[in-house]
Amino acid sequence: ADAENPPVRRLSAWDADGLVALAEEYGTPLYVMDRDRVRQNCARLREAFPDAEVRYAVKAHTGRAVLEAVRESGLAAECASAGEVERALAAGYEGAEIQYTAVNPPARDLDHVVDRWRDHPELTVTVGAADTVDRLRERGFDGRLCIRANPGVGAGHHEKVRTGANAKFGVPYDEVADLAESVAGEFELVGLHAHAGSGISGEDLSNHRELVERMGNLAREVESRVGPLEFVDVGGGFGVPYREEEPPLDLESVADATREALGDVSGTLAVEPGRYVVADAGVLLARVNTVKQAADATVVGVDAGMTTLLRPAMYDAYHEIRNISSDDNDEAISATVAGPICESADVLCENRSLANPRRGAYLAVGNAGAYGYEMASTYNSRPRPAEVALDGGKARLVRRRETLTDLTELEQ
Ligand code: LLP
Repeated sequence: ADAENPPVRRLSAWDADGLVALAEEYGTPLYVMDRDRVRQNCARLREAFPDAEVRYAVKAHTGRAVLEAVRESGLAAECASAGEVERALAAGYEGAEIQYTAVNPPARDLDHVVDRWRDHPELTVTVGAADTVDRLRERGFDGRLCIRANPGVGAGHHEKVRTGANAKFGVPYDEVADLAESVAGEFELVGLHAHAGSGISGEDLSNHRELVERMGNLAREVESRVGPLEFVDVGGGFGVPYREEEPPLDLESVADATREALGDVSGTLAVEPGRYVVADAGVLLARVNTVKQAADATVVGVDAGMTTLLRPAMYDAYHEIRNISSDDNDEAISATVAGPICESADVLCENRSLANPRRGAYLAVGNAGAYGYEMASTYNSRPRPAEVALDGGKARLVRRRETLTDLTELEQ
């Protein structure tokens, strides 16, 4: 099964000529999402967690083509906003498969989600503050409720993505059981939730294990006071290898460690990976438009930058980059790949070995499927890129390129 569905798909496994053809047909910058790989990633998660509920953290990639593939693969949907709930419903998700995780929710979001709940009464709302319960009550909501705990344990690839010990997220751990007891009669209390952070690797697995242990203890306390829960959701955050030499996460051992750390609870285990589902299903294609020899670097200017893929600028994230127009005779040089935005942070990589990145060549950026298009912006009045989806290698345009007219459309 491994040969058909390997745990990692590196940039070198993509068909370079096929990508060049897509760049020529649809223009650049271009996101390419392989729905077959999305399905494979879902299948590996389902296999590793056969008796758990696996919920896709929609925020990693909200495109309809992706959501449909994920839904058809049997994953539920974890949504962070009214907009994500809308997208999940539009992609065919039933209320029963939708978890809305309210993080400091704007009134507009609560209005909208409670409104949707009237037609989809199986939808679950997760609260991360006691006063969100009051705000739901005021709106007449008395449905399926889950409480997010702040477990006091964080993990993840960068300080900016560690949520577990960040005061913004969740009800303080020691207050959760009391809150659960006080709301249990009024709402249908279905579960507990926590999320340590994003991009968990083998190295910080011990933090993940500690979080799960704490959630197991909390669930036992809550279950002894209010009765059995339906689920204990221990969050997402499963990392993927961004660097060429990095080994993939051993999902089976993460699953074993998770089950063991949770211990005996009546609720089902739930996990909510985002990145793991979509990261290596996506590449970003860019075109070289300038090559310049500066004093300390060869700067390769491309048409994608921090407004297309924010991760390098925001987290110093590493993404594999290849010249897909190069041939075997091309010599590699050390290059800085920079975008067209007027910010010095607008650099996709530095001191990177690239095969002769001449003007007109196409570069592919790997692992761009998670938090890629989602974090794109129109800063510098730069229209957002187009996106194509692949099925069996066949492409279709699923998101058209923004135009200069789109940029001014909202002004009056
Ligand atoms: N559940 C909750 C409550 C979350 O907040 C998140 C991510 C996830 C699940 C999914 O985490 P994942 O499996 O994708 O790691 N923009 C950052 C990542 C931010 C993640 C925010 N929350 C990045 O590009 O690395």
